[in-house]
Amino acid sequence: MLTSYEKAEVELTKNVYEKMESAELARCIEELEREVEHVKAKELKLDMARGKPSPQQVDISRPMLDILSHDSNLFDEGVDCSNYGCFDGIPSARRLAGEFLGVPPEQTIVLGSSSLNIMQSVLIHYWEKGVPGYTPWYKLPHVKWLCPSPGYDRHFGLTQDLGIENIPVRMTDEGPDMDQVEYLCASDESIKGMFCVPKYSNPTGITYSDETVRRLAVMKAAPDFRIVWDNAYAVHDLFDESDQLLNIHEAAAEVGNEDRILEVASTSKITFPGAGIAFFGSSVANVEEVARTLQVGLISANKLNQLMHARFLPDIDAVHEHMKKHAAFLRPRFEAVERKLTEGLSGLGCARWTHPRGGYFVSFDGPRGSAKRIWKLCQEMGVTLTPAGATWPGGEDPNDTNLRIAPTYPSVGELEAALDVLVLATKLVSAQIAQEERAQA
Ligand SMILES: Cc1ncc(COP(=O)(O)O)c(C=O)c1O
Repeated sequence: MLTSYEKAEVELTKNVYEKMESAELARCIEELEREVEHVKAKELKLDMARGKPSPQQVDISRPMLDILSHDSNLFDEGVDCSNYGCFDGIPSARRLAGEFLGVPPEQTIVLGSSSLNIMQSVLIHYWEKGVPGYTPWYKLPHVKWLCPSPGYDRHFGLTQDLGIENIPVRMTDEGPDMDQVEYLCASDESIKGMFCVPKYSNPTGITYSDETVRRLAVMKAAPDFRIVWDNAYAVHDLFDESDQLLNIHEAAAEVGNEDRILEVASTSKITFPGAGIAFFGSSVANVEEVARTLQVGLISANKLNQLMHARFLPDIDAVHEHMKKHAAFLRPRFEAVERKLTEGLSGLGCARWTHPRGGYFVSFDGPRGSAKRIWKLCQEMGVTLTPAGATWPGGEDPNDTNLRIAPTYPSVGELEAALDVLVLATKLVSAQIAQEERAQA
């Protein structure tokens, strides 16, 4: 059975421009080119590339800054947060991390502001020392890593930087293509891991189905295979009814694979990006080993920040309440994307896009060979998008179709104007491609 993503791909194979008579197509291109010149004259300066909250959205968390002052009690359940010690994180923050990640608090570490930094430290550790009991990865002739694509460019950068070969795996609307993942992992021991953004994935916004999570947890793979379970958007719902993600730690533990899962998350897009707290959660053995390793280079994380966060967001219910304020801010932006793309492109067969119920992005696909051209044309009309290709390992989108829309930073008005430009660029490039293909036929 075709997934809805594949069905859309089938629809994309014959678009309205490909069906036009040649003379009509030429007239249509001329008309679209005139529109482009008209937009260029406006000298727009709009940005849909930044996957971060706007200053007004960040302001939602300002009340947290009033929690600590010079005369505050700086103890957390007996731990002095104003001094060294308590490497794993303060008790109340670890409790929050446990609720967040779906593991007991003892199976968490709460650190500084960045989950990306934790991912990098753990990967470098396995690269240099190996997963306990196995050969260090740097000593192996070949190490490969699965990268569901479109995906998060900074993930791909972590493994690329170590000299690991990134292997793209197709994303479906239930998560990574599990037939492909299972086949690759079962047949190639040099595949040592995989990145996953399981909820409101970056950039497709989809949440992995229960079946995908179970298959990832139990599938056959190298014994030192590890899944970086980056739950960056775990609580970033846009609507009251949220997507539900199966607990992968429990599914993995049922078959003794609990060491496979390395979960991370942070409050970067809950409180302050770059000034939040970050979580690591895994098996008892992994947490103990990772803590021992990280402790070599860190005496204590910023526990005052942990204290401030734990008092502001004492439990997961408080987190959800807080996230409702973010959702109220973000929903009109995501609705604007859906409205503008539907008005401008639906029925033309030259574009498809995702309809996320949470997270920070919308994934957009044009016809084969169009993404770089659409990106460039948008740039010429004054709209910056994340560079085409960025959602694939090495910046190489094999079909050159994918663009990532980041609707959070601009105002709704700016976003609408930028989307009109994207729609126009998609139409013109699709029409030009149809004309070029006809000329070559
Ligand atoms: C999937 C994903 N993981 C991690 C990060 C970065 O998180 P942090 O600020 O905790 O390093 C981002 C930021 O955009 C992200 O999209």
